[in-house]
Amino acid sequence: MGKLSGKLAFVTGSSRGIGQQISLALAGEGCNLIIHGRKKENATATLALLKQYSVEVDVVEGELDTDAAIQQVISQVKEKHDQIDILYNNAAIQSKSKDIWDFKTEDFQRLIQVNFYSVVQFCQAFAPAMKQNGYGRIINLTSGIKDQPNLTPYGVSKSMVDKFTEDLAFELKDTGVLVNCMDPGWLRTDLGGPNAFDEVETVQPGALQLALFDNDGPTGQWFSAQEIRKSMEK
Ligand SMILES: NC(=O)c1ccc[n+]([C@@H]2O[C@H](COP(=O)([O-])OP(=O)(O)OC[C@H]3O[C@@H](n4cnc5c(N)ncnc54)[C@H](OP(=O)(O)O)[C@@H]3O)[C@@H](O)[C@H]2O)c1
Repeated sequence: MGKLSGKLAFVTGSSRGIGQQISLALAGEGCNLIIHGRKKENATATLALLKQYSVEVDVVEGELDTDAAIQQVISQVKEKHDQIDILYNNAAIQSKSKDIWDFKTEDFQRLIQVNFYSVVQFCQAFAPAMKQNGYGRIINLTSGIKDQPNLTPYGVSKSMVDKFTEDLAFELKDTGVLVNCMDPGWLRTDLGGPNAFDEVETVQPGALQLALFDNDGPTGQWFSAQEIRKSMEK
């Protein structure tokens, strides 16, 4: 029996990169999964990796770049499942690198749509049932990005995620639903690029720990997956 046997997690952007690692870690604890990519076929590699675990896996697909598209993804989840127990809001995009003076309103709008409004809408779709059930774990992927004005729409979108996480955590205080942010560290993924500090696998075991907190565990907090990993290795 894994520590998450019988639970169901929805991991957005789990077709590759950090979301794929999170899904594998959850499956290793017996957690059933809903995997997501922009197209179902994009999730093929994750599905193949998950075959080694005895867990149930569903796949949903869709863009997160409009409210209508986000709602489509939510409908796909709700068609098959009354509720989920764990939500990792992981999918996100990076800004094009530009001089800070050159960013247009639409550069910010696109980043905020995909990286922030999707988080809000997924939380609004699934947190009320978690509250009713007295159990839920919501983990919003954030970033420690700093001093990079050339990527400011990305940094701004993640600051919005941080603030929303705090507010939602306060709203759900003492309900059994914990809402936290996790910075995975700078990792070599398609988004992080080849010069990043660490391999994508190093997001473990830190990323999993936030799903394993007890009901009276921390909420509204900001965690570094790399710091957790290092403290667990000591
Ligand atoms: N890598 C880093 O160094 C780093 C650092 C700090 C924070 N983070 C955060 O960690 C999370 C995962 O990053 P990553 O490096 O794993 O990214 P990644 O390798 O680029 O993977 C992105 C994932 O999100 C999905 N996705 C991308 N654009 C989408 C869209 N418009 N609509 C729906 N889904 C979309 C992708 O699906 P498809 O495969 O279908 O395209 C993929 O599953 C993000 O929130 C990111 O901001 C990453």
